Amino acid sequence: MSTGVIVPAAGSGTRLGEALPKAFVDLDGRSILEVCVAGIVDAGIADSVVVVVPVDLIDTARTLVPDVTVVAGGAHRSESVRAGLDALGSDYDIVLVHDAARPLVPASVFRRVVDGVRAGHPAVVPGLPVADTLKQVDPSGSSSAERVVATVDREVLRAIQTPQGFTREALLRAHADDSGLATDDAGLAERCGIDVHVVPGDPLAFKITTPWDLRIARDVLAETGKVHP
Ligand code: C5P
Repeated sequence: MSTGVIVPAAGSGTRLGEALPKAFVDLDGRSILEVCVAGIVDAGIADSVVVVVPVDLIDTARTLVPDVTVVAGGAHRSESVRAGLDALGSDYDIVLVHDAARPLVPASVFRRVVDGVRAGHPAVVPGLPVADTLKQVDPSGSSSAERVVATVDREVLRAIQTPQGFTREALLRAHADDSGLATDDAGLAERCGIDVHVVPGDPLAFKITTPWDLRIARDVLAETGKVHP
């Protein structure tokens, strides 16, 4: 079975507070996007990779990652994934969607996700148990002190990461509704009744969102020199 990987990298990443869109911010002399694509290539699971970037950064991206296809994204993440799906074409039985914002994902996570789809699951996502106690609050109240509504049972919860893997057919079905906006592709799949399974994720698959995350990613790279074992 052949595997295509879509890398949505068209977000602005304003929460990071950097001048450039997130995927183009430097990690170790390489951008987040370059480290992410290197991880996908090193994992050895991809027959084709499509990177989706802001329209004004297409040329820059083609210089940074010359061996993969680069296309323009949309205003929402789901639109960017759909642009990637169009560019990938119909030659791949398995499609992974992997946020550029998670550049340090180990190869073992890619393999677990692909193996899960190969084993017959239409949708497979990596996830980790939640360490913190989780409380549901009433967000409409004061922002300085929100009222607690309930304590949620964390034993049945998983924090979901990427890459998320799908049969091509499942991902097409999940994205068939153009109005489908979601924070992840598995969420769209669930909405149309597709079974989603969770395999173990990895702490290194964390998403770079804040300046703190960026600092951790830079420190990990500086310390180990190499990720994606
Ligand atoms: O905003 P968030 O961190 O959830 O975005 C996750 C991933 O989706 C990032 O890699 C980001 O570049 C990408 N994205 C995109 N197109 C958008 C918004 C986000 O490709 N319009």
